[in-house]
Amino acid sequence: METVGGTGDPPEAPAVPTADPDEAERRLAMPLGEALVTQRAVRRVRPDPVDDRLVMRCLELALEAPTGSNGQNWEFVVVKDTAVKAALAAQYRRSWRVYGGLGRRLRRDDQTARILRSVQWQVEHFEQIPVVIVCCLRGGPRLPFVPLPPVLLSSHYGSLYPSVQNLLLAARAMGLGGALITLPLWSATAARRMIGLPLGVEPCCIVTLGWPLGRYGRKRRKPVASVVHLDRFGNRAWEPGPAS
Ligand SMILES: Cc1cc2nc3c(=O)[nH]c(=O)nc-3n(C[C@H](O)[C@H](O)[C@H](O)COP(=O)(O)O)c2cc1C
Repeated sequence: METVGGTGDPPEAPAVPTADPDEAERRLAMPLGEALVTQRAVRRVRPDPVDDRLVMRCLELALEAPTGSNGQNWEFVVVKDTAVKAALAAQYRRSWRVYGGLGRRLRRDDQTARILRSVQWQVEHFEQIPVVIVCCLRGGPRLPFVPLPPVLLSSHYGSLYPSVQNLLLAARAMGLGGALITLPLWSATAARRMIGLPLGVEPCCIVTLGWPLGRYGRKRRKPVASVVHLDRFGNRAWEPGPAS
């Protein structure tokens, strides 16, 4: 069995699928720190169904997130219909042919190779993923012929991603495998048609959910001091100095 972790830490046992909301609730008591360090893109999942009550609980917790001006202008389309998944999969395959080809040419390290293999798996098995959630936003900061400050765009899209992260963390705590993806939405127009979105609702990203085929483990990230600056950009005050 493949580990989904990447640091060599001993992986934990794979989560036992459950349809019991009480058991899911018990799992949600996982320490926050543990959920944060082990939540990661889990693309390889079993085709077994995920109980709707668990999906709805994850979404309920997603809605605990903040939104700009407390607009709560999110909409989530839970896709379980194989025909709709197949339409999204066709888009994913099309965009992955371009994007994955570029990735293979530009980055040849082990970590990238692992990600590419895992995306390839997801692209090939998309229709079998039990739950595909299209995360959308209502409205938007567009006015014809009026240039708007980037911060408005930031506030608009930034109103969705905290909820998506909540969703991923809730799924992780329950033992579900979740992944945030965007490539199937390469053409927003086509995606809109597939799931019947009105013009005022924009598809922004997708979260896939299922019971993991692998196990959770720690992931690799940059050292915090390498990306944190004090007062002004470039003053890496927390970077360890040369050994004296
Ligand atoms: C905005 C955004 C878009 C992403 N789009 C995709 C995607 O289309 N397909 C995919 O497989 N992963 C996608 N990812 C997931 C990233 O590849 C993943 O978060 C990254 O490789 C780190 O993985 P890890 O958390 O397992 O270490 C996306 C992530 C973000 C934040």
